Order: sequence, then structure tokens, then C-alpha cells
Amino acid sequence: MIELAFSILASDFAHLADEVASAERGGGTIVHVDVMDGHFVPNITFGPPMVKALRAVTKLPLDCHLMIENPDNFIPDFAAAGADMISVHQEVCPHLHRTLQLIGDHGMKPAVVINPATPVDTLIEVLPMVHHVLVMSVNPGFGGQKFLPLALDKIAYLAELREAMGLNFRIEVDGGVAHDTVAQVVESGADMLVAGSAVFSPGKTEENARELLRLARAVVPAQV
Ligand code: DX5
Ligand code: ZN
Repeated sequence: MIELAFSILASDFAHLADEVASAERGGGTIVHVDVMDGHFVPNITFGPPMVKALRAVTKLPLDCHLMIENPDNFIPDFAAAGADMISVHQEVCPHLHRTLQLIGDHGMKPAVVINPATPVDTLIEVLPMVHHVLVMSVNPGFGGQKFLPLALDKIAYLAELREAMGLNFRIEVDGGVAHDTVAQVVESGADMLVAGSAVFSPGKTEENARELLRLARAVVPAQV
């Protein structure tokens, strides 16, 4: 199933509950929460208190994308705040297997993220333990960047590996996913689509989400 994970990074934080409700009315089924620490990425956003606030206003799964160093230190706090899925960057996890286990031990779905410069092959050993792999299609840190087409081959390769290894992890894509790029990512094999700036826009959020999903699902007729 193709799902829209709308990134609240592009929303109006002063009206967060309404923004989430609009994106959900447009068909969004996952809330993507971009956590940035100002070290791993050159920007700061929010942490577990934001997850707790979201948990109080939506039943949708909360997909926390941790762009932070030492993610192990924060996993218990995200679990307590109500996160459903946690993705950690391969680039900051010297003991990635242990970190993914820790996420699972806290009752959340573990996932791993790779930057544009990180090869898919660095993940082969942990693919059996992840709920999804997140392929970055921009360098993380900011919303509204241009889609990097190099992500497409990585998505396709992951889909091949999944088949060859007999696994069922999902493939998520993040960065620059918009009305003009969504078809390519779905064709390549992504089924969790993160989008921020292509969704949130005053008065148009619901319509933007609906149209993005329509374009995505049109690529795979069986899903319409
Ligand atoms: C970027 C974040 C993304 C971001 C996507 O570092 O991980 O989730 O919100 O924003 P858009 O959809 O605007 O590229
Ligand atoms: Zn993200």
C-alpha cells in the first residue's frame, strides 16, 4: 500500500493540530516528525515534547526521523512520548544492530536512514530487522530542497534486495517528493512517501495531499 507520511516540518506550528487534521483529511496516514540536533545536521527542530503533543491530537502513527547524534540516548524518551516508528541514520550509528534492537525493545518499529552519499550495501546485514528503510533524496537538514534523482536507483536496488532476501521491509523516501517527482519514486519501488512543502500550504493542505496521493497511486493501478 502506498502511504503519505506528511512532514510537519513544513506546517504552521502555531496551528499544529489543525494542520495534522487537514493532511489526514487529504489521505495522509503517517505523521513524519523530523528531529534535528544542530550537530548531525545544520538545523535544530524539536524532540520528544513535540511527539507527546502530537500523540494527544492524532491517532495516526508517528514516524520519527532522528537526524541526531547518539540516538540511543533518546530512544526511551521517544517511546515514552508515544512514538510508533523510529528511524536512525546509518552514518551516526557505529553499532547500528544494537540501536535497532533497542528501538524494538522499546516497543517501536525500527528503521534505518541513508544519506544521498551512503550506499545501500552498508545495510544488507540489518535489513531482516527493520520495518522500513528510509532513502534520503536530499541532504537532510531542511525542507523545500530539490529532489536528487540518485535516490531512484537506490530505491530500486532495495526493492531487488527485498525480493532476493525474501523480506518485507517497506521503502520510504524523503526530500523533494512533490507532484512532479512522486511518480518516479513510486515506479522505483517506494511505498512510504514523505512530503512536507508539497503538502502544507495555507488553505490548500488537504487538496495537496489528496492530489499527491492520486498521482502516486495512479502509477500502480492495483492500488487505486
Ligand atoms: C529533511 C527532512 C524532510 C523534510 C522534507 O531533512 O528529513 O522530512 O521535511 O521536506 P520537503 O518535502 O519539503 O522536501
Ligand atoms: Zn524526514
